[in-house]
Amino acid sequence: MGMVEPTLQVDPNQIPHLADPVPLLQRLQDEDPVHWSAAAGAWMVTRYDDVKSGFHDRRLAVSRPMPPAELFEEEFRETYRAYASSLKTWMVIAEPPDHTRLRKLANRGLTPTAIEGLRPQIEALVDELLAAMPEAGDVDFVKSFAYPLPAAVIALLIGVPKTILKDLHRWSDDIAKGLGAPGEDIIRPPAHAAAEMTAYLTEFIAGRRANPQDAIIDKLIAGDGDDKMSTEELIGNLILFLFAGHETTMNLLSNGLRTLIRNPDQMADLRRNRDDGTVVAGAVEEILRYDGALFMLTRFAAEGFEWHGQHISKGNKVYLYCLAANRDRRKFDAPDRFDIRRADSKQHVAFGYGLHFCLGGPLARLEMEVALPALLRRYPALSLPSGDVNWRNNMSLRGQPSMQLRLGEGV
Ligand code: HEM
Repeated sequence: MGMVEPTLQVDPNQIPHLADPVPLLQRLQDEDPVHWSAAAGAWMVTRYDDVKSGFHDRRLAVSRPMPPAELFEEEFRETYRAYASSLKTWMVIAEPPDHTRLRKLANRGLTPTAIEGLRPQIEALVDELLAAMPEAGDVDFVKSFAYPLPAAVIALLIGVPKTILKDLHRWSDDIAKGLGAPGEDIIRPPAHAAAEMTAYLTEFIAGRRANPQDAIIDKLIAGDGDDKMSTEELIGNLILFLFAGHETTMNLLSNGLRTLIRNPDQMADLRRNRDDGTVVAGAVEEILRYDGALFMLTRFAAEGFEWHGQHISKGNKVYLYCLAANRDRRKFDAPDRFDIRRADSKQHVAFGYGLHFCLGGPLARLEMEVALPALLRRYPALSLPSGDVNWRNNMSLRGQPSMQLRLGEGV
C-alpha cells in the first residue's frame, strides 16, 4: 500500500483563533495522527497514546536551539545573550543530568508539606478577593480573581513581597510570548522581561542570603549540603516558577468556571457537594482534562525516526497536543462530555508526563479546590453574559485574557 496523501492541512497558528479547536484536533487523530504542518514547520501529534509516549521519549528533547545573537540588532544583543543563557538554566527545558539535579534541588523546597501548609493563607486570599467583588452585576473574572489569586499565591510560595505583583503580570505576559504568539515578536518581549526579572531577583536573593527566612526561596538558596543552585540557576528557575505558577493556574480558573456555567447539571452537582472534598477534587481533575490550560508542548527531535509512517528528521519541531490527548475517544469514553464524576479523569496529561511532569500540580490543585467552592458559596447564581471565547494569542497557553462574568443571575 502506498502512502495516502493527507488531505487535511492544519496550521497550529490558527488553533488559538478557533472558538473550539477540539473537533479539528480530533480529525487529525483519525486522519493524520502525526501531522506535518508545512505552515508552521512542525509536527502535530494528537492521539493520547502518542502524546504520552512522546513525553517519555528521550529522542524528543526539551532543550531548544536559539538563533545566534548576530541575527539581532546590536543594541539588543547583550539582552538577548543574557536571555539565552538564562533559558539554559530553566529546568523545564533542561536535559539530564542538569535537569535531574535542578529538579531534585527544587523538590526540597516544593514539598507536599510546604504546599499544604499554604492552605490557610490561600483561603484568606480567596476570601479577601471575593469580599472585594460586588454582590451582583458584571465583572471581569480574570482581572478580579483568576489573575490576582495565583499571582499572590506564587509570590507567597517563593517568599517575594507582594509589591512584585504590580510588575509580575506584565513580565509573565511577555515571557509567555516566548511560547509562540502568532504574528508577534517572540524573542524581544521575553528577553526584556527576563532582564527586568533578573535585576529584581539578583537584589532580592542578595538580601535573602544576608537575612535568611523560612520560605521556599531560602531552601533553594541553602541547597543540599554542597549541592546548590548557582545564582544564575536560582534566578532562571525563580523566573520559571513565577511565570509557570500563575499563567497556567489563572487560565485553569477561568476555563473551569466557564465550563461549569456551560454545564448546568454539573454545576448543580458541584454546588450541592461543594463541602465534599472528593467531589471537588474530581471536578478539578475533570476541568484539567476537559478544558486544560495548555494546547500543547514543544519538543525537538534529537535524532531521526519513524512515527505512524512519517519520517521525523533530526531537529524537527514536534508539538504534543495535550488538549487533543485529553479528548481522545480511544482513551476516554465520550470525551466531549464534561462529567465531574468521571472515574478516569485523572489520567489526563494536562500536567504533562514523565521527567518534566509539572512540579506545581499539587499547588494548582489546592488553589482550585479552595477557590471553586468558595466562589459557589458566595454566588448562588453565576452566568456568562457573552457566549464567545476569545483565546489569548498563544500557541501553547490556553485561556481567555478576560472573561465577563455575571454575578447573581442564571444558574
Ligand atoms: C493549571 C496549572 C498548571 C498546569 C496546567 C501546568 C502544566 C505543566 C506542564 C504540562 C508541564 C510540563 C512541561 C513539559 O513537559 O514541557 C509543567 C512543568 C512545570 N510546571 Fe507546571 N503547570 C501548572 C501549574 C504550575 C504551578 C502552580 C507551578 C509552581 C511552581 C508550576 C511549575 C512547573 C515547573 C517548575 C515545571 C517544570 C518541571 C520540570 O521540568 O521538571 N506549574 N507544568
